[in-house]
Amino acid sequence: MTALLEVKGLKVHYSTPRGEVRAAEDIDLHIDKGEIVGLAGESGSGKSTLALGVMRLIGKPGRITGGEVRFEGTDILSLSEKDYREQYRWSRMAMVFQGSMNGFTPVFTIGAQIREVLEIHGREGGETTVRKLLETVELDASIASRYPHELSGGQKQRAFIAMSLALNPQLLVADEPTTALDVITQANVMNLLKRLRTEMGISILLITHDLALISEAVDRLYIMYAGRVVEEGPSVSVFSGPKHPYTQGLLASTPTLQSRQIRGIPGFMPDLADPVEMCSFSPRCPFVMDVCRKERPEMRRADGGEEVACWLY
Ligand SMILES: Nc1ncnc2c1ncn2[C@@H]1O[C@H](COP(=O)(O)OP(=O)(O)O)[C@@H](O)[C@H]1O
Ligand SMILES: [Mg+2]
Repeated sequence: MTALLEVKGLKVHYSTPRGEVRAAEDIDLHIDKGEIVGLAGESGSGKSTLALGVMRLIGKPGRITGGEVRFEGTDILSLSEKDYREQYRWSRMAMVFQGSMNGFTPVFTIGAQIREVLEIHGREGGETTVRKLLETVELDASIASRYPHELSGGQKQRAFIAMSLALNPQLLVADEPTTALDVITQANVMNLLKRLRTEMGISILLITHDLALISEAVDRLYIMYAGRVVEEGPSVSVFSGPKHPYTQGLLASTPTLQSRQIRGIPGFMPDLADPVEMCSFSPRCPFVMDVCRKERPEMRRADGGEEVACWLY
């Protein structure tokens, strides 16, 4: 079986006055049909860069410097911008992000803006289609005639999700889709994403810095640190038996009902403009060994169906 999305060795760099910021390095990631895959890591670890790379939305001063992004086997990075725009972006793969809800134009109704997306792509933008899309995200059809400022943050984010679903994409990349929302609304949006998968069979890449938020929603999980994937596995294994000391720290810094105490990970992420040969987590790692400071560990199979980049395994 070919994966719906397969990312191989993807590299994204930003040219800055400080040098080349290696925000995504040698990323391997795949998403199967109907799978909800999580991507987690602290702020600055390269999650949005990876998402934008997958969507071919990296703008200056950034660029993709290597690797492949295959969608149903086709390397979309090798397509012309025109072919990619016409055949993939928004139609087969769509994206929502934290600020999406502010992406509506204030002077047009929500319905008019959804209709425009449909019509630009040559689809029928009638009232029924718009109403169905709004119903899919559990919004009342009357929302279509409202202006963005008349909606709550949660309603706007749902309306944006409805718009992103307008062309029936197979993949939805959701980058911190609920970060600006209150806790109850966050949970509702998570449930909505789960329902979209069940009812439409859509695949979702769900990106967050908040592991607790996605624990119920994701089938499989990637953990990113300093521009690289350091752990991957079924979410049950990663949540019950995290392997990488970074993942362990990340989970320990997530407040739970049992323990309200938050233990952060001491230290800081390395400067991504200053590449190192060693394990980039070694300066913060409680289990650091000599080898960790000399050589970077590759991803290796560990138990629980996981892969981890750590010399302990
Ligand atoms: N437009 C940009 N120009 C320069 N550096 C950037 C740009 N966007 C992101 N970066 C850098 O890339 C790294 C990863 O950022 P980002 O992908 O936004 O991480 P995350 O989404 O995990 O918080 C950070 O060091 C950030 O400063
Ligand atoms: Mg981000």
